[in-house]
Amino acid sequence: MNRPASPSSARIGADAAVLKAPLMTTMLTSDLPLPRIGRGKVRDIYAIGDDRVLLLTTDRISAFDVVMAETIPMKGAVLTQISAWWFAQLDGLVPHHMISADADAIIREVPALQGHRASLAGRAMLCRRTTVFPIECVIRGYLSGSAWKEYAAEGTLAGEKLAPGLKESGKLEPAIFSPATKAETGHDENITIARMREVLSGEVASTLESMARSVYTLGEKIAREQGIIIADTKFEFGRDNDGRVILIDEVMTPDSSRFWAADVYTPGRPQPSFDKQPLRDYLDAERRAGRWNGDAPPPPLPASVVDATSKRYLEAYRRVTGADLKIA
Ligand SMILES: Nc1ncnc2c1ncn2[C@@H]1O[C@H](COP(=O)(O)OP(=O)(O)OP(=O)(O)O)[C@@H](O)[C@H]1O
Ligand SMILES: [Mg+2]
Repeated sequence: MNRPASPSSARIGADAAVLKAPLMTTMLTSDLPLPRIGRGKVRDIYAIGDDRVLLLTTDRISAFDVVMAETIPMKGAVLTQISAWWFAQLDGLVPHHMISADADAIIREVPALQGHRASLAGRAMLCRRTTVFPIECVIRGYLSGSAWKEYAAEGTLAGEKLAPGLKESGKLEPAIFSPATKAETGHDENITIARMREVLSGEVASTLESMARSVYTLGEKIAREQGIIIADTKFEFGRDNDGRVILIDEVMTPDSSRFWAADVYTPGRPQPSFDKQPLRDYLDAERRAGRWNGDAPPPPLPASVVDATSKRYLEAYRRVTGADLKIA
């Protein structure tokens, strides 16, 4: 259902001036006249025949593994259009799934979507359909999060020894490839590369690692020049109907990556999240005050937190791509 934000959620009127897209609605869930084959925490996935999918990124947001009740205006469009921008940079470097992230082009390709333009604008991506490899390909260029915790306790990452004396949030050179299984529920589990080779075959495992490394190397460099450190990121790959291994899903977005502001980066401590920090700070405060136990349902978000978060996502788009996000 594509609906205007409810009063407890983001206020469309207040955001319109900032977002330069007064006709955009925010979206919690979609309802398109196509077979829906999946619904993740953030995306709804529709089949278009047996060789294409439509990925529709809603404005849902999760923090601490809990999906919030409110929507974040423009978040879906930011995620889709950052991915689209990266896919365009990757043309010629790695094969990928994007066919189009332009609503009018998508409607031309899929006439059943006529009359649903407002639900598609900015947030929809028409993609080659694949059989997804059940492995999350994580690349870590900086030591943070669960990787830092394991290193601080054991000196290892996914069981493999790292050099001594590394700092929290410090740069890892070279970046570390650390695969994880795609868990249906709960947390993804880190696995060794040996285990990945058993699951996928050695040849596919090597292809995925080298594709993930080349995409991250390019992305980290471009983003850093624009003031964003992509500390780590997660890629997914699949095999298309022609048997090709291709990059799928979202690419180097704030949701699939840790984005840090380069100008306040200070190794030796945790870094603020470029996009989710206002939300995390609010939830932390609610938890400390005893008003939230950390599980669903989450506490309602004040409009100021929703607004600050929306602005962060738009700023992430602007920094990465060098232009304001405009959704016609
Ligand atoms: N080209 C593609 N072909 C088939 N499936 C795809 C393709 N691109 C992405 N997908 C799948 O679409 C889904 C995207 O949904 P979403 O990102 O919301 O959920 P998730 O990845 O399961 O969970 P989360 O991202 O919250 O950890 C993923 O399961 C992904 O594997
Ligand atoms: Mg996902």
